[in-house]
Amino acid sequence: MSSVSPRSVDTLDVSLGERSYPIHIGAGLLTSRDHLLPHLAGRQVMIVTNEVVAPHYLATLRATLASADLDVREVILPDGEATKTLASVERIWDALLAAGFNRRCTLIALGGGVVGDMTGYAAASYQRGVGFIQIPTTLLAQVDSSVGGKTGVNHPRGKNMIGAFWQPRAVLVDTDTLVTLPARELSAGLAEVIKYGLIRDREFLVWLEREMSALRELAPDAVRHAIRRSCEIKAEIVAEDETEQGVRALLNLGHTFGHAIEAHQGYGNWLHGEAVGAGMMMAAVLSARRGWLDADALARVGGILEAAALPVRAPANMTPDDFLVRMRLDKKNLDARLRLILLTALGEACIRDDTPPDQLECLLAEFPRLA
Ligand code: NAD
Ligand code: GLY
Repeated sequence: MSSVSPRSVDTLDVSLGERSYPIHIGAGLLTSRDHLLPHLAGRQVMIVTNEVVAPHYLATLRATLASADLDVREVILPDGEATKTLASVERIWDALLAAGFNRRCTLIALGGGVVGDMTGYAAASYQRGVGFIQIPTTLLAQVDSSVGGKTGVNHPRGKNMIGAFWQPRAVLVDTDTLVTLPARELSAGLAEVIKYGLIRDREFLVWLEREMSALRELAPDAVRHAIRRSCEIKAEIVAEDETEQGVRALLNLGHTFGHAIEAHQGYGNWLHGEAVGAGMMMAAVLSARRGWLDADALARVGGILEAAALPVRAPANMTPDDFLVRMRLDKKNLDARLRLILLTALGEACIRDDTPPDQLECLLAEFPRLA
């Protein structure tokens, strides 16, 4: 059962020596045995998905894996960012142990970033590490969270505070899965796509400005190009700096502000991508105040975020202190200095730990709030 022609699949490589892996991008990949089976470590397979994604895609994936040689089980978790907890990971460990799965089992994450991050962490820790495959079904997961091996869960005090670097064996991006994705979730994914243009590729940013309506309408060529270019940039950065000792931190543009918004508002109330959208606007305004972005560039950042239907204002109920308390917990900070990703131009970013505290406090006080 391989209905996908190899010519209709783009394949990129995440180059990490013996831990290198392919990212396959194409329509209908969920039905392709040829792109999936070679990445299984042994005959034991645990699909991890959730209650929203399972009715759409679990049966198709099970059919693709149907074979007398494979022992395929499943865990269906509740939906939502609020379930990205150690308790959910424990449910995956329990299912693996109940099935008697050994170190040659493979976990398959079928879902968005929440399922992907938790499945990856379960794989990283089960019997000290087993293989896993990412089948991301949100745009955000297809362009960002499924690639690069950051896995983990939230803690009530902070986003993604518990986790591990653990690379998947392969990433299969079936672009057809986006047809069932709610528009708000598509916009959240576009935040991360815009991020790549802002930090690394001005030409891509210009392309995004032109093609944003096509992307929101899921025009196949535009969607495929956006996913491919995003994954290329992410793969390049991860290959250069797998464990975020330097350049990988640029992928966190807007995230320090965004994580504070997500945690303060209660996980799931603001989507991750929405919080990152507002956070990127905050980073852009701060970059302008530092003299690096002119008014035109700042307006273009606001314009593209709004074109993607993302918020460019912060929540009404957050004080500067609400931001600062959360931002001080950010994993990028070293020696009590707040490290922020700022823009030096459209398409160029830097990591800075020298933002004057009064400048940051002014920004947090003055940045527009939602009505
Ligand atoms: P999500 O996983 O919660 O998915 C969003 C919603 O869409 C959920 O309700 C989900 O069930 C539903 N859904 C998924 N696929 C669907 C489909 N095809 N059709 C219909 N509904 C579908 O959220 P997300 O935006 O995919 O991911 C956000 C998470 O990713 C956050 O926890 C964030 O911290 C994490 N993240 C991780 C990394 C990383 O490098 N590991 C990078 C970025 C974000
Ligand atoms: N999304 C940030 C990273 O993968 O590093």
